[in-house]
Amino acid sequence: MDGKVRAAVIGVGIGYLHLQGYVKSPHAEIVAVCDIDKGRAERVANEFGVPHVFTDYKEMLKMDEIDMVSVCVPNYLHAPVTIDCFEAGKHVVCEKPMAMNAVEGAAMVEAAKKANRKLMMAFNNRFRGDTQVLKRFIEAGELGEIYFAKTGWIRRQGIPGMGGWFTTKSMSGGGPLIDIGVHMLDVTMYLMGNPKPVSVVGVTYAKFGPRGLGQGGWGTPVEGGTFDVEDMAAALIRFANGATVFLEASWASYIQHDMMYSSLLGTEGGADLEPLRIYKQLQGTQADITPQFPRVSGHEQEILHFVECVKNDTEPISTGEHGLDVMKILDGIYKSAETGEQVAIE
Ligand SMILES: NC(=O)c1ccc[n+]([C@@H]2O[C@H](COP(=O)([O-])OP(=O)(O)OC[C@H]3O[C@@H](n4cnc5c(N)ncnc54)[C@H](O)[C@@H]3O)[C@@H](O)[C@H]2O)c1
Repeated sequence: MDGKVRAAVIGVGIGYLHLQGYVKSPHAEIVAVCDIDKGRAERVANEFGVPHVFTDYKEMLKMDEIDMVSVCVPNYLHAPVTIDCFEAGKHVVCEKPMAMNAVEGAAMVEAAKKANRKLMMAFNNRFRGDTQVLKRFIEAGELGEIYFAKTGWIRRQGIPGMGGWFTTKSMSGGGPLIDIGVHMLDVTMYLMGNPKPVSVVGVTYAKFGPRGLGQGGWGTPVEGGTFDVEDMAAALIRFANGATVFLEASWASYIQHDMMYSSLLGTEGGADLEPLRIYKQLQGTQADITPQFPRVSGHEQEILHFVECVKNDTEPISTGEHGLDVMKILDGIYKSAETGEQVAIE
């Protein structure tokens, strides 16, 4: 593509961080922002010098001057808004989770193919400096075959926007599993080389939210609103290559402190993310390696990457197909939690 990639953002909550990425890119220019909250959209447009402000994204998509769109609206809108973007001929970077479920996710992948446009999942944790350095070690074979991983994001008191869209299943699709577990599951699968999932066993609990406990500092609470999602989930996921992943996600638990982690076991080495360490046997002795890595924002890096993919017509490292595999696992965990059975993944 000649010239700059012309970008727009729909939803300016986390969308604010996408805008910070676009302004850093030498190849992008921000053409428009859209939010149903006009005041919020205007404030952000002023701050970033964005020329066009919309409250109706369908009106915005009529602009031929837009090449790519960041979809940063609540989860239940990811699929319809993304599909509308493709039908309007735009490339899309969509926030996590991909959608409410895998049926919607598959429709998004299909719509991208039909429109011959790119779909990237905004899995920002893939783009962090520590993740990228660890990925280089793994691709060079330093861990050998990765056969097991333990990963999770657990919060002591972190239910976001109690009563609002985050805690209302019809708008979020679920609780911490789909909200934050999705990040750590994705980054772990990415480090493992995106193996194909075959089955899951999962459990979910809601021990805090229904009692009005466990609220955190994220999202906008709604007095008297709904809480009908889990506040803790755990699962064991099996992959076609024989590897397994144990995943836990919680918004509220009596634990010492909040943690985001991914621990990988390989035949030639092990590794932890957060903090980044690699464990090997070197020269006949056990060695712990602490690699240096750039302190960069994964949110900014993902936008810089996708702008380059659109400009140079290359495949993003975080594809719609990857998002769909993660979505199928999340669906399976919720189903397994409901039925008490192991669930096969197609
Ligand atoms: N990658 C991350 O680290 C990360 C962090 C937070 C949120 N998210 C994801 O980003 C999405 C948004 O979350 P958030 O925290 O920004 O939520 P939020 O509620 O703070 O912001 C969402 C914004 O979308 C706007 N909006 C709602 N419906 C709209 C519509 N039809 N058209 C235009 N604008 C609309 C709202 O007015 C609001 O300003 C969610 O899917 C969430 O899971 C990702």
